[in-house]
Amino acid sequence: MKTVKDFRLEGKTVILRCDLNVSIKDGKIIDDTKIKASLKTINYILDKNAKLIIMSHLGRIKTESDKEKYDMRVVYNRLNELLPNKIHFVNETKPSKLKKYVKKLPLGEGILIQNTRYEDLKGNKESDCNNKLSKGWAHLGDIFINDAFATIHRKHASNFGISYYLESGIGFLIEKELENLNKLDNPKRPFVVIMGGSKISDKIGMIKSLIKQADYILVGGAMAFTFLRAKGYDIGRSLYEKEEVDYCKDLLKHYEDRIILPKDLYGAFEISEESDTVLQDISMIPKNFIGLDIGDETIELFESILKNTKTVFWNGPLGAYEYEKYRYGTEQILKYLKDNVETVILGGGDIVGCANLLGYTKDITFTSTGGGATLKYLEDHDVPGLRNIK
Ligand code: 3PG
Repeated sequence: MKTVKDFRLEGKTVILRCDLNVSIKDGKIIDDTKIKASLKTINYILDKNAKLIIMSHLGRIKTESDKEKYDMRVVYNRLNELLPNKIHFVNETKPSKLKKYVKKLPLGEGILIQNTRYEDLKGNKESDCNNKLSKGWAHLGDIFINDAFATIHRKHASNFGISYYLESGIGFLIEKELENLNKLDNPKRPFVVIMGGSKISDKIGMIKSLIKQADYILVGGAMAFTFLRAKGYDIGRSLYEKEEVDYCKDLLKHYEDRIILPKDLYGAFEISEESDTVLQDISMIPKNFIGLDIGDETIELFESILKNTKTVFWNGPLGAYEYEKYRYGTEQILKYLKDNVETVILGGGDIVGCANLLGYTKDITFTSTGGGATLKYLEDHDVPGLRNIK
């Protein structure tokens, strides 16, 4: 695939789509990983003495008040701290209004425009890949570089749309993501997938594809309860997806020997930091019990399977990690992987955030910046954000 390195950028105007969609709480950025991950491509383009137009969405814009909540200025301020005085903020998204800023921009400097989803407020133009908007943005530049890995599953005007009209390539972040995720097409074996988080419904495509490859799938998190229901266990008041029970039954019918479910669980009768934690065998779950983490026997079982494993892909935490005491299972497995498994790739479903919180990201081979994008890419590698790139 054509990358940013394959273009002569000197003197050109380059449109760069980044994913700067960071989590924000009380007006502050909680995690700036996506901004830092975009710097390599930004610096490369600026160093080539090109003009740079950076675009990204931030949050979802449905009402006028969302505009204030997801004003790109908060991202700009962080970017400006990381790259002082090289990028300027332009509070515009309309192509006709952006023209003059691009014209007067010196070579070797860049602009970050306002949130591309401001264009969603009247007619969903960005998210529905409006043709006029795509064309208008494309006409601002000479070359389009897509580096927004976490958005490749979306067919937006600012990724698919622009790449339809301009010669396009990928940036360093997408290149690195694909290189690592492609390792799972032909993994060093044994290859184990760890799955957690709450929803199976979001992950059906990924499961379908990875189950053919994986030697084992270890299941934790709330999704384990949908499988346990499918096997006929009482799960008390634990979270599960009723509509996916039949799907799990079918998976178990075909792959029972490869799908490894918890044997015991930590949980409580009330969900809070204060409530007493109880350890339960899955065959004896009381009526009001809520399972919130994998138990000790399950940790041992998972570790015994991971013992000789060469490659692991992990999506979704194994417990309700928002509560400190239910991070235990996830932390034990992260610790085990760090010391025992050669290639570990974390992607999607909050596992990267959880590993960050627990301080394990530096010990992991690769952590993907994508959530839904990673899952969609793993399904069949056919994603809109890459379709127009040779
Ligand atoms: C993400 O954070 O997963 C991407 O930025 C995509 O965001 P979206 O789900 O709002 O399209």
